[in-house]
Amino acid sequence: MIGRFAPFLISAILFASGCKDPVAFEEALTDQQLGGKTIPAASLSNGRQMYVRQCYACHGLEGDGRGPSSPGLRTAPRDLRLAKYKFVRMVGGDLPSDKMLYDLIRGGLHGTAMLPWDIQDDAMYDIIHYIKMFSPEDEGWRDPENEVGTPLVFSEDPWTDKAEEGIKRGKHVYHAVANCQSCHPAFATKEYIHSAFVAENKKPEFRDDGYYAARQVTEYSVNGVEQTNLPPDYTWNPMRTVKSGPEAKKNLYRVIGAGVNGTAMARWKGTLEDDDLWAVAYYVESLLDMKDTPAAAELRASLGSQGEFIPPSVESEEAGDGSADEVVE
Ligand code: HEC
Ligand code: HEC
Repeated sequence: MIGRFAPFLISAILFASGCKDPVAFEEALTDQQLGGKTIPAASLSNGRQMYVRQCYACHGLEGDGRGPSSPGLRTAPRDLRLAKYKFVRMVGGDLPSDKMLYDLIRGGLHGTAMLPWDIQDDAMYDIIHYIKMFSPEDEGWRDPENEVGTPLVFSEDPWTDKAEEGIKRGKHVYHAVANCQSCHPAFATKEYIHSAFVAENKKPEFRDDGYYAARQVTEYSVNGVEQTNLPPDYTWNPMRTVKSGPEAKKNLYRVIGAGVNGTAMARWKGTLEDDDLWAVAYYVESLLDMKDTPAAAELRASLGSQGEFIPPSVESEEAGDGSADEVVE
């Protein structure tokens, strides 16, 4: 590995130590077959220059995510050799399209060191081509079997004229149909959650600290140490690919639909009915809109001050299975 990158290493160290001129790489690059396309050497060379300037500090010379600025970054920079990405998840193929990578790098990942990069189109695509070179022989972008997928298909939003109804349905889907609060916080009373489960003919369940997120393991590691992550509380934590604004619903539909690759956050498209996926996007947006407003604290306070919830007895519930009492307390 080091062998292939050694001359590059020397020039990059010169560069990092204050040489502001374009780095003179000694190792000429050749055309490469990456993701089923032939990428010309000129694009790769330019991408390499740009990468050293903009990305190397975190993602490292070999793309291993261990650049000089990486130690201590709480969400660690991605190991680009893996060709495995959290947020550019496609359908029917392992590899993302260049356009998906472009949008990701331009948008950045909020709440992490991965800032939005405003880089000219040509240069950006050169960088995108270059980072594919980090794949080891026959893996990732260099595996001829790996295909570029297609982006998630958006169905028509059925709630445009009835947002309130969408939010209401989304709250139900969130807490009962999908049980999103098995990882994320719950945002409804225990009474609401209990009866929503019963209405779905499901056994009610509620984590002990169900108003807080439950830390999860991921498939990513740094120096052999498995990385964990916290499912966001939308009223409080930044989301990586979603911000309040006109794009919020669409971006929520996309990220909830596609899931977050290599983490506990599953792909919900296909598991939920499409109208319900939209509804949950509406609901999560309504929570996101509370962020940094008194409404978020009020919601938290009211959930925190609930009296003890005693589930109704089984006889009074048509759909109970007799075990409800043990679960919600
Ligand atoms: C200051 C540190 C830093 C710099 C500089 C940086 N990144 Fe990142 N990058 C990160 C972090 C941290 C993550 C992981 C975020 C996460 O997992 O939520 C990341 C993630 C990524 C991902 C993976 C996205 C995904 O969906 O998994 C790609 C691709 C990426 N960066 C490309 C780049 C490129 C290209 C550049 C240069 C233009 C760059 N980064 C510069 C810190 C950085
Ligand atoms: C098994 C655990 C689990 C379940 C169930 C779950 N999530 Fe997540 N979710 C996570 C984790 C972990 C993350 C953080 C991923 C990351 O940033 O690395 C996450 C992230 C998210 C994000 C933020 C995406 C971004 O751009 O940062 C949204 C929105 C979200 N989940 C919504 C939902 C909804 C809605 C449901 C139910 C339909 C759900 N989640 C169910 C674990 C879960």
